[in-house]
Amino acid sequence: MDIDTIGDWKRTNNCGSLGRDDIDREVVLMGWVNRRRDLGKLIFIDLRDRFGLTQIVFDEAIDKISHAKAGILRNEWVIGVKGQVMPRLAGQENPDMPTGDIEVKVKELRIFNETNIPPFQVDGKIDASESLRLKYRYLELRRPALFHNLVMRHRIALCIRNFLNSAGFLEVETPFLTKSTPEGARDYLVPSRISRGSFYALPQSPQLFKQLIMMAGFDRYFQIVRCFRDEDLRADRQPEFTQVDLELSFVDEREVMDVIEGMMADLFAKILDHSVSTPFPVIEYNNAVNQYGSDSPDIRFGMELMDLSDLLRSSGFRVFKEVIEQEGVVKAINVEKGASFSRKELDELNSIVSNSGARGFFWAKVKSDGWQSTLNKFLAPDIRSAVEQRLDTKEGDLILFVPDKLQTANEALGLLRTEISKRLSLVKDETYSFVWVTRFPLLEYDSVEERYVAIHHPFTSPLEEDIPLLTEKPEAVSARSYDLVLNGAEIGGGSVRIHNTELQNQIFRILGLGKEEIKEKFGFFLEALSYGAPPHAGIALGFDRLVAIMTGAESLRDVIAFPKTQRATCAVTDAPSKVKDDQLAELGISLL
Ligand code: AMO
Repeated sequence: MDIDTIGDWKRTNNCGSLGRDDIDREVVLMGWVNRRRDLGKLIFIDLRDRFGLTQIVFDEAIDKISHAKAGILRNEWVIGVKGQVMPRLAGQENPDMPTGDIEVKVKELRIFNETNIPPFQVDGKIDASESLRLKYRYLELRRPALFHNLVMRHRIALCIRNFLNSAGFLEVETPFLTKSTPEGARDYLVPSRISRGSFYALPQSPQLFKQLIMMAGFDRYFQIVRCFRDEDLRADRQPEFTQVDLELSFVDEREVMDVIEGMMADLFAKILDHSVSTPFPVIEYNNAVNQYGSDSPDIRFGMELMDLSDLLRSSGFRVFKEVIEQEGVVKAINVEKGASFSRKELDELNSIVSNSGARGFFWAKVKSDGWQSTLNKFLAPDIRSAVEQRLDTKEGDLILFVPDKLQTANEALGLLRTEISKRLSLVKDETYSFVWVTRFPLLEYDSVEERYVAIHHPFTSPLEEDIPLLTEKPEAVSARSYDLVLNGAEIGGGSVRIHNTELQNQIFRILGLGKEEIKEKFGFFLEALSYGAPPHAGIALGFDRLVAIMTGAESLRDVIAFPKTQRATCAVTDAPSKVKDDQLAELGISLL
């Protein structure tokens, strides 16, 4: 088939813009055939572009040639039409469509392209597997839902840029071909051709460079920047993802938090017309894990964890007694109205707990005539009523007890809390609850590597009063760090930085780095610290996660134009892929 060119036509309108005011105008529209209805003498087409749909009509009585041409059109063909805007016949209007009052009577049709039969229906009536949709991502991006998410992403980035610009931040680009920055994941390496045998690392974050920018005196830096981490993927992780990265000089943690709170309030007001109240609540790490069983707690509902060890120590129930004697705990949550859970549901919940590494839970349903529970025969009535009082239970509630080591019990109950909130729909859609989690431990002991590792990164400042503990009890040192949590998801993390060469050196040594290694990896950085580094602090937000929450998307893949698959591949291009031997030879690389 011959294909038409645009020729002398100029598009006058997009497919979402015409209305009653345009009646009688002659217009030129271009787009894709979304749907075609052939009624013989009349052929109706919904013409689609990014802006919407317009009904166009081919009437044999008006133009025989274009009517005949329209007979061969199929969904997703790309066309242009010239015609006149007409009111739709009375009763034929479509109030659900912004252009639903009018239609365009076509005088001339140009066919710009036909199409193979698409691998799935673009109008989304029949869904395809995710792998197919990722392979043909450009077709899925024609669908309004995904397209809408990317429009939101654009608007959110623009809003953040404008806010930070007004607040005196300068956007500075930092290198992608760089040296490894320790953020805790594996690096993506890029071989150098010129320095054979040497590798760049793609940045896991611009951490070191943004600190250098503070040393350069830029005072307030930001960047909306891609970061690369070779780690196991989950719905909330991508190997390349975007951060809103900030760094500020001459500030403490409160000032960084104030900037972020202002930015979120502005963003949610402008994009979602939602008023966010500031300041955000602050909860220390220890309290977060003890109260909510998570360092990124969803505080939109209660169900807080309670320690019952003191009440149950002498209860006579062997399991509880033994765990407590071995320095474990018995912690519990009260699930309001949870007595309606069936045995099957309780079994499902219990398997979540056992998969997390805990032994499982005991349950008690609070009924009008006492507990329905295997614990009845072990716990005396006064103990039961003390438990009820601590958990503030009512008739119809369900108590879940987890006896285990403190950390295991916290994690298990944290998982239960989240799962139960979903099952009981405890949170409404479109509610947003921010919380800061502060004072994480600075270091933890890694028994596999047999050394201390930084919880956040090695540039995080310890709390002033904990510095003496660094030598004797490094794991007891708290960090001047803060995570931003939204609806139970960690959407950001940052800290006050070390700006003193000696302290930074000490931290490297505690992390098990030898003198030579420190010099080789971070010599440039320590040197920079010695040339007048201001006190500074910063934070990075996970931009994809933020957009996912603001759009209600379930996975980061739904807010990234060309995301990676679960196996970290690009389904569109099939990357990563093999390269030619001479390309490897040029790099001095041979494969094992
Ligand atoms: P952190 O490692 O906590 O801090 O990262 C900041 C935020 O980035 C998001 N994030 C991710 N999002 C998608 N996919 C991933 N693989 C992924 N990894 C992290 C999270 C996280 O809270 N340099 C420090 C920041 C600083 O100290 O200023 C850093 O990168 O939402």
